[in-house]
Amino acid sequence: MSAVVEVRQLTKRIKGKEIVKDLTFDIHSGEVLGFLGPNGAGKTTTMRMMLGLMSMSEGDCLINGYSVKTRKEEALQYVGGIVENPEMYKFLSGYDNLMHYKRMHPNVSEDRLHQVTALVGLTDAIKRKVKTYSLGMRQRLGIAQALLHNPKVLILDEPTNGLDPAGIRELRDYLRKLAKEEGLAIFISSHLLSEVELICDRVLILQKGQIIDSQSVREPEAEILEIAFEVDKLEEAAALLRSSLPDIAVKTHGEQLVVEAEREAIPAVNRRLVENGIGVYGIQTVRKSLEERFLEATGGRAE
Ligand SMILES: Nc1ncnc2c1ncn2[C@@H]1O[C@H](COP(=O)(O)OP(=O)(O)OP(=O)(O)O)[C@@H](O)[C@H]1O
Ligand SMILES: [Mg+2]
Repeated sequence: MSAVVEVRQLTKRIKGKEIVKDLTFDIHSGEVLGFLGPNGAGKTTTMRMMLGLMSMSEGDCLINGYSVKTRKEEALQYVGGIVENPEMYKFLSGYDNLMHYKRMHPNVSEDRLHQVTALVGLTDAIKRKVKTYSLGMRQRLGIAQALLHNPKVLILDEPTNGLDPAGIRELRDYLRKLAKEEGLAIFISSHLLSEVELICDRVLILQKGQIIDSQSVREPEAEILEIAFEVDKLEEAAALLRSSLPDIAVKTHGEQLVVEAEREAIPAVNRRLVENGIGVYGIQTVRKSLEERFLEATGGRAE
């Protein structure tokens, strides 16, 4: 997979306060990357900088190799975004709204307009006035608008806000389809981890302007698990693992030896214990869900 977005050491300071600190990450074509964080974490600020809507204090964001800082016009032709509520003219039809936007992007064809309309499932409603649309339909019209100039990257700030479960599901299906069929890179923020788990391939967890965790959602084998070993000589076992397997986090929890490692590491840990004369009476894998990790990472509080 190639990185179509490269965020490097991105930092925002406002009045001496660091709102976003030193963010570095990539977004790949065909990938839906989640941006999860509590209110005030800095999600909108990050996205605004990536879309050239706000200046960067430090660092940069490259889109398709172009710097948003120094080659803004080139960079932005590859990105479509919705930050906060998309601007819509409620008394115009969906079609007229898209036409209005099309005029600002001279390379967009009438065909493309119909194509994006179909892609977000609005073909039947496109001639109706936007004020008659449901919130979900408006969101989809916003996405159609963001897609109109054929971007490689879609940046969506909390697009499911205010949608009901059916609307969320619908949007989710469209976004996954866009990533898969159009090879789009999609960056989507949310403060709801249940939602991010369903839509995204991977998730960055942001807290107080910093990325504190990055997890793959759809590749469980890559997940770090907690594995509890029931052993006879607890302290001796913990000391042994700490000294001989320094890459693996080891702690004791009650009578159990708890190891944080990938599933693949279990036999090696077990062998190490047994070969050193420690009796192993049980091994239990405790898979930590994204929710637990999110709460752990953010301390379960907003700020
Ligand atoms: N123009 C500004 N001046 C001063 N502080 C700001 C400004 N814009 C944002 N902030 C602060 O930066 C922090 C991050 O705000 P931001 O809107 O990026 O968070 P967020 O993660 O999008 O939150 P939410 O989930 O509520 O949308 C907040 O503490 C906010 O008060
Ligand atoms: Mg926000």
